[in-house]
Amino acid sequence: MKRLIIAYHSQSGACAQLSHAALRGAQREAGIQVERHRAWDIGAADLRAGDGLLCVTAENSGALSGGMKDFLDRVFYPAINLGLVLPYGVLISAGNDGRGALAQLQRILSGVPFTPAAEPLILRGDVCEEHLSKAQELGEGMATGLVMGIF
Ligand SMILES: Cc1cc2nc3c(=O)[nH]c(=O)nc-3n(C[C@H](O)[C@H](O)[C@H](O)COP(=O)(O)O)c2cc1C
Repeated sequence: MKRLIIAYHSQSGACAQLSHAALRGAQREAGIQVERHRAWDIGAADLRAGDGLLCVTAENSGALSGGMKDFLDRVFYPAINLGLVLPYGVLISAGNDGRGALAQLQRILSGVPFTPAAEPLILRGDVCEEHLSKAQELGEGMATGLVMGIF
């Protein structure tokens, strides 16, 4: 059975909510195991056991949130040494921008290299029903792609 790992970092609860919506979306797909973890709590060993990664994080001061940056920095060399090439998706929650965080995440993951599996999603402003629905769709899309072997 394929395994999708959702890693999130959240200060106010926005990314926690969005990652939970992505989890619900992914769980609509049969035949996949979905795990949602705080980025602080997982490392390269967890990625090794996974088939895909969805990162849910905020933009802080024009950059990736500290928690997500810490996670990606910790797994960078171990993932290279393990030869991991995972398909990944990204959801950025931002006040009014998000592009800095996205560029940083893409740059780090292209160095492993992990491969983009879905269009990056930037959601600006307070979490609303539309955001939750888009997060759910992203989770479901990643799960479907993994189950169908598209990536
Ligand atoms: C310290 C700090 C810095 C922020 N910097 C930015 C920023 O540079 N660009 C932006 O669009 N939003 C920025 N925001 C807004 C957050 O990205 C947004 O509120 C997000 O939903 C927070 O998600 P979280 O609380 O789940 O981590 C910032 C928020 C904080 C607390």
